[in-house]
Amino acid sequence: MYGMLNEGIRSFVTENHGPEAWQSICETAGLDQLEFERMSSYDDAITYKLIDAICGFTGLPLADVMAIFGRYWVDFAGASHFGNLMRLAGNSFIEQLKGLDDMHDRILLTMPHLKPPSFEVEQRDDGSCILHYYSEREGLAPMVIGLLHGLASETGEHIEVSQVAAKSEQCDHDIFEVRILDKAPQPSSTGA
Ligand code: HEM
Repeated sequence: MYGMLNEGIRSFVTENHGPEAWQSICETAGLDQLEFERMSSYDDAITYKLIDAICGFTGLPLADVMAIFGRYWVDFAGASHFGNLMRLAGNSFIEQLKGLDDMHDRILLTMPHLKPPSFEVEQRDDGSCILHYYSEREGLAPMVIGLLHGLASETGEHIEVSQVAAKSEQCDHDIFEVRILDKAPQPSSTGA
């Protein structure tokens, strides 16, 4: 994974638990570094070890840590210079969801070793959607749940997500059902 993601994890831990916690998590993960180059690519094992070490530190289950981090990542990455790529896709959760592959493709232009996820959205008449998530990696589905909640909060929407199929020998990807519950009123452009 690109160092930017590991830096996101560092920021997540230091904001919530302080720099000593981060140092101890890196030690548990067996790392000899405390910081990462955002634009360099690192072994995925580092990211998985960091997440495991956070579970050990907080006592939270793996799925919870991944979901909480996923939600945090949208704020972290959204505040980076890539943030506009996400917002340019549209003003609603569904539009931004549909724009994720294009967004990651555009990031690929500056991060050539990126192994981006791919999403396919099937909209249903009742406003809900079925989301297909394809990845070369294993075990990231709980993070996707947090990412989706984070994405929805970008446009003031609230969603309910349930995983309806998991990547397995029978199915080559994870599948989620996403329901949009409500949309918070947007501030008017005149400020009135
Ligand atoms: C501005 C916002 C975002 C930026 C800059 C960004 C960038 C990145 C980067 C750099 C990676 C690491 C991939 C690698 O190193 O190979 C990544 C992974 C990933 N991103 Fe995004 N991302 C953003 C938003 C989102 C959102 C909103 C979602 C989903 C709702 C998402 C889904 C994922 C997933 C699932 C992965 C893990 C890779 C995998 O599945 O194999 N990202 N992203």
